[in-house]
Amino acid sequence: MEYRRLGNSGLKVARICLGTMQFGWTATEEASFEVMDAYTEAGGNFIDTADVYSAWVPGNPGGVSEQIIGRWMKERGNRHLMVVATKFNGRLWPGPNGDGLSRGHVMKAVEDSLRRLQTDYIDLYQTHWPHYDTPQEETLRALDDLVKAGKVRYIGCSNEPAWRLTKAMWISDKYNLNRFISLQPPYSLVRRADFERELEAVCLDQGVGVIPYSPLQGGFLTGKYRRGQVPESARAEGLKKYFTEKNYSLIDLLDSLGAKYQASVAQMSLAWMLQRPAITSPIIGANTVEQLKDTLGSLEVHLEEEDVKAIDAASNWRE
Ligand SMILES: NC(=O)c1ccc[n+]([C@@H]2O[C@H](COP(=O)([O-])OP(=O)(O)OC[C@H]3O[C@@H](n4cnc5c(N)ncnc54)[C@H](OP(=O)(O)O)[C@@H]3O)[C@@H](O)[C@H]2O)c1
Repeated sequence: MEYRRLGNSGLKVARICLGTMQFGWTATEEASFEVMDAYTEAGGNFIDTADVYSAWVPGNPGGVSEQIIGRWMKERGNRHLMVVATKFNGRLWPGPNGDGLSRGHVMKAVEDSLRRLQTDYIDLYQTHWPHYDTPQEETLRALDDLVKAGKVRYIGCSNEPAWRLTKAMWISDKYNLNRFISLQPPYSLVRRADFERELEAVCLDQGVGVIPYSPLQGGFLTGKYRRGQVPESARAEGLKKYFTEKNYSLIDLLDSLGAKYQASVAQMSLAWMLQRPAITSPIIGANTVEQLKDTLGSLEVHLEEEDVKAIDAASNWRE
């Protein structure tokens, strides 16, 4: 496993982060333990979750992924070896402050996450998405207090537009508050524009680490989705917008180039992302150890420049 510093911080994280949104949803607790065991056996140390996972699934109250991770760390006795990233903003209790980024919300949300994770600190505490009703300064001051109290070690953000990320850096610098060390944006070969248009330049300039989520676009970029062929998956319905001729041609290209590297479509997709200079650690999802092993294989694939150019051209969004 390779490790990289997360942004300008001294924290070292594995080059592939294990996402856990599927734990207690599309992966049972037993399968989740197996995936985490296989990930750490491969040298992985970086796990991403959120307090709200997966409250949108009928019968799931939220907090389930954090609970599974907490039980696993307790059983394995490995809390000190793991870098645990979680997020807040999702609705977890009723009333006008049951979601959001206000001081009031974050102070209860952090205690709930600590309890579910069975730990007394969170390595990376991230805002899940913007909350336009809360001044950014209020959120940053509350997070700064949590760092000073030792409940949180580093702070990060997710789903922020470039202007708000830039403003957050400015607020932190102006008031000498802890800065966001990382951004968690949606980013994949079939969803490049949202990150590359402006955010990529801000992150490179400001030394913000980038930990993109859904780098395989929920499984679309694994090769199992082809023209007229949709696999059995809880994710398939949400992927329909990617079923375009351009995207299928991209998958054909990844498949044919992959033969040269003896790499799967998933490995080629991730190898392309790993060579982008802003990217610290893509956050992948895996329901099984087989999926995880396939994904981790991308670390062995080093694309030649001409192949990167061909993949860039096939996924170009600037036209
Ligand atoms: N900040 C946010 O707003 C946000 C939003 C979404 C996700 N996230 C984070 O990012 C993580 C990853 O997101 P994601 O699950 O969308 O990532 P992803 O890696 O793009 O997709 C993962 C899904 O693809 C399929 N898959 C993965 N590897 C495969 C392989 N080798 N072969 C075939 N199929 C494979 C599996 O679904 P099937 O088996 O069902 O096909 C798996 O659940 C989440 O767990 C979460 O931590 C954050």
